[in-house]
Amino acid sequence: MKLITIPGVIDAHVHLREPGATQKEDMTSGTKAAVSGGVTLVVDMPNNPQPTNSPQALENKVVLAANRIYSDLGFYFAATPEAIPYFTTVKDRVFGYKLYMNHTTGNLIVTDEQAQAIFAKIPEGKTLIVHAEGETMSKAIALAKKFNTKLHIAHVSLASEVHEIKKAKEQGMNITAEVTPHHLFLKSDDVKRLGSYGIMKPPLQTVNDQEVLWEGLRRGIIDIVATDHAPHTIDEKDNGEKPSFGVPGVETMLPLLFTAVAEKRISLETLVTVTNTNPRKIFSIPEQLDTYVEIDASESYVLTNQKVVSKCGWTPFAGMRIKGKIVSIYLRGHKIVDNEKIMIEPTGKLVTPMI
Ligand code: NCD
Ligand code: ZN
Ligand code: ZN
Repeated sequence: MKLITIPGVIDAHVHLREPGATQKEDMTSGTKAAVSGGVTLVVDMPNNPQPTNSPQALENKVVLAANRIYSDLGFYFAATPEAIPYFTTVKDRVFGYKLYMNHTTGNLIVTDEQAQAIFAKIPEGKTLIVHAEGETMSKAIALAKKFNTKLHIAHVSLASEVHEIKKAKEQGMNITAEVTPHHLFLKSDDVKRLGSYGIMKPPLQTVNDQEVLWEGLRRGIIDIVATDHAPHTIDEKDNGEKPSFGVPGVETMLPLLFTAVAEKRISLETLVTVTNTNPRKIFSIPEQLDTYVEIDASESYVLTNQKVVSKCGWTPFAGMRIKGKIVSIYLRGHKIVDNEKIMIEPTGKLVTPMI
């Protein structure tokens, strides 16, 4: 046994699917999956069938979460035209505003004029998170410059995006970026093998893109790893004509990243920075006291669909060998996971940003 202790992992990009799509996941199943993988705090995205774009919709999520979550949980607010009047109302209760500038699950995509109006109205000090791929990302950066917006780029996947973010940072912009485990560990070639289970937005890219993403992570150009945990059922994925976009990932992020540490692709220090220190800084997430994960670095195992805790019941990483194994997880001093056994009582709390 070679025990390594790290702070509880934060996943700042999760789709818990409740309310409205609980056949895919719900707050209980999604946060249970989270803690099983060492993630002690998740931030939930607003693209539900009834989007989180009003104070009532936000309050509804708060009520739904009561006594039903295993990890701590916070929310983002939808950055849609109808939501603009509420941006200041909800500002102390959400970790940021999420803007969809490309088509993806949920149909919250906006026009260029609408995007402009949204950038103009983000409250001072709050973060605007954008789904903006490739050239759309350049548009988002230009708007952030114009309106002096604190901008966070979700799921960076292309080498060209990393170069552009590096440039924007060098110019002194208040910009941060995130990469997903699937863009780090899977590539476009894997789609042949995975079929619709390898389809997500943005898509898997080339080995060269992947190398640049790793380098961006090591050099601090990419600030955080977050999963974009986007579960869909096997039926929804097997739907030949129109498979849903997205893959689950909340429970496999730490095992995969720890494997990368074991293989010396990143240092343990970088792992902690990109899964804890940086997400806290970017979104003003309060510290979770006495919350940590113990990993036995001498163990190894293979990921399987059978062991998936998420309601969706599959993982695009099945078959991959993991180095290290989570032994126990502590939330506020209490052991909530003990050798794959998850505590029966959910003890997660709702969190709001530090002001
Ligand atoms: C996400 C989903 O299913 O909610 N899908 C995806 O392919 N990434 C939405 C998103 O983050 O774009
Ligand atoms: Zn997205
Ligand atoms: Zn997402």
